[in-house]
Amino acid sequence: MPRILLLGGTHEAGQMAAALAEAGLDAVYSYAGRTAAPVAAPLPTRIGGFGGAAGLATWLRDNGIGHVIDATHPFAAQISRNALAACLATGVPLIALERPAWVAQDGDRWTSVGDIALAVAALPVAPATVFLAIGRQSLDAFRARPEHRYVLRLVDAPETPPLPGAAVVVDRGPFTEAGDIALMQRHGVQLVVAKNAGGSGASAKLGAARALGLPVIMVDRPALPDRHAVGTVAEVMAWLHDAKRGV
Ligand SMILES: NC(=O)c1ccc[n+]([C@@H]2O[C@H](COP(=O)([O-])OP(=O)(O)OC[C@H]3O[C@@H](n4cnc5c(N)ncnc54)[C@H](OP(=O)(O)O)[C@@H]3O)[C@@H](O)[C@H]2O)c1
Repeated sequence: MPRILLLGGTHEAGQMAAALAEAGLDAVYSYAGRTAAPVAAPLPTRIGGFGGAAGLATWLRDNGIGHVIDATHPFAAQISRNALAACLATGVPLIALERPAWVAQDGDRWTSVGDIALAVAALPVAPATVFLAIGRQSLDAFRARPEHRYVLRLVDAPETPPLPGAAVVVDRGPFTEAGDIALMQRHGVQLVVAKNAGGSGASAKLGAARALGLPVIMVDRPALPDRHAVGTVAEVMAWLHDAKRGV
């Protein structure tokens, strides 16, 4: 079977990599290179961008890739669009491993917004302590609202404070609800801003906000073009198995 490219950077991609390795399939795991010490994958690994959709198409051809699995984060829309375009251009089949979005439960106090800029606009007028567990790349937009005190959770310790006066917690998921309740109480958090990532690795903050009765500004996922998507590692493996049998 020709080589498989696994686009990763998520907990689910780690599970996918384990299944591919277990099955003895020839696959390469790709990281963007955003974190200083990415979790080691049980597959040969490459790190860094491909140079847009055209660069990725060239890379697929040069490396004899026969299948692409897009297991990137639901908010990593650019690489997912590039992967679709590159696979279309090269005729390489693509499957996306997608986690279902989180859905509000009884007791949740969510305000859903379309993007980060709208989340900034939805912050209250009165100064508040706001937990931003949204990753490093989306923080800059919150500079426009310096009246709030921000609590940030980041995978790597920043060299300079990403937001003036912010409290920075350096930690890597998966997190627990009890741990997130303690963190929010320790910092006096009054409001949570979250991206609707789905999955279990980062959902603890939502349970914690529910338990503490805190409001959540929930950023909806960016829209992607139609693609073949499944929700489990087993379904991706079945797709690869069918491809191998020429189904
Ligand atoms: N966005 C989030 O909230 C979030 C959260 C957790 C984990 N992640 C992970 O972090 C990575 C970067 O996310 P992002 O939001 O910055 O992505 P993005 O905006 O969709 O992608 C920006 C560029 O980064 C490169 N890239 C992204 N993912 C890559 C991968 N797996 N392998 C090789 N190159 C990749 C590509 O560069 P070229 O155009 O040069 O190819 C892409 O055009 C992804 O792998 C994602 O799964 C993202």
